[in-house]
Amino acid sequence: MKSIILDSTAAATEAALEPIFELSPINLLIIVTLVLFVILFVGALAVLKSLKTLVRVTMPELEEEQKAQIASKLEKKRDRRAWWNKVAGLNPMETEEEIMIDHEYDGIRELDNPTPLWFNALFYSTIVFAIGYILVYDVFGWGMNQEEEYLAQMELAEAERLAYLEASGSNVDENSVTVDLSPEFVAAGQEIYLLNCGMCHGNQGEGMIGPNLTDDFWIHGGEVGDIFRTIKYGVPDKGMVPWEANLTPVQIAQVANYIVSIVGTNPPNAKPAEGEKMEGRASDAAGEASAETEETVEETSTAQETSI
Ligand code: HEC
Repeated sequence: MKSIILDSTAAATEAALEPIFELSPINLLIIVTLVLFVILFVGALAVLKSLKTLVRVTMPELEEEQKAQIASKLEKKRDRRAWWNKVAGLNPMETEEEIMIDHEYDGIRELDNPTPLWFNALFYSTIVFAIGYILVYDVFGWGMNQEEEYLAQMELAEAERLAYLEASGSNVDENSVTVDLSPEFVAAGQEIYLLNCGMCHGNQGEGMIGPNLTDDFWIHGGEVGDIFRTIKYGVPDKGMVPWEANLTPVQIAQVANYIVSIVGTNPPNAKPAEGEKMEGRASDAAGEASAETEETVEETSTAQETSI
């Protein structure tokens, strides 16, 4: 769709750049021919006119015949007008006397003008249309009614949205986010954190206005998905801003993973724990990611699965 629009605009600009008119030999030929035609046409008209004059002068009886023809044409025209008056519901002035109703108020009299044919036709056709409409959309269900059409459109839009997110690689949400502690990802998250979150949670996550993010205690859950959800929707009642509008899903995933990575770092001036202790959740995942043994790697993947 998009590309079609782009293509057509490109074609349009191209067309606009071309010279509008070029006097090539062929164009010249066309112009000359046209001019010749006009001259010939005017000449033919002149000849016709002079021939007619000739006929009138030499054979006057022919002219009488023509006059009769014109009269019958006028008659037909009058018939047509009468028919049109009927359709349009027009009453010529001459016939007004006939349709005058014989009451009168203060010298004001009333005409009995019938509803015009076209209006009645329109009116009855709306009734027929309505019956057809009800049958098609509501009785037999051949077409989609408003609600079905709305739902179909929403479905289409949702599919398009998902396709777009898929294409832009940002369809991550609180249900699909996974622990990703790769250095670039966490570093990107830290950058976002220092810019947006440090003033409330402390630059090392030790907690200030907002709770300590480095301990094992969580008010809203310590799984990466929980953290993602808290950041995305916020806790507006408690002073935690929803970040949905200001951070992209990928950015939220980055900063959530940054928080996972700082759990258990014990920064100085840590704020006392708030919420419930989460037994070996995000903090474990953070610890395990750096560990090398088979066993812990396996545990990490189970931790990731449970967070999905
Ligand atoms: C205006 C201050 C403020 C800013 C800015 C802020 N937060 Fe918060 N945040 C809070 C408060 C207050 C809470 C506690 C909410 C509660 O008590 O339910 C909180 C809670 C949280 C929690 C949940 C903690 C738990 O124990 O469950 C997380 C995670 C969090 N914030 C992350 C962030 C991130 C990431 C950012 C930056 C993108 C951020 N916050 C920006 C004030 C803030």
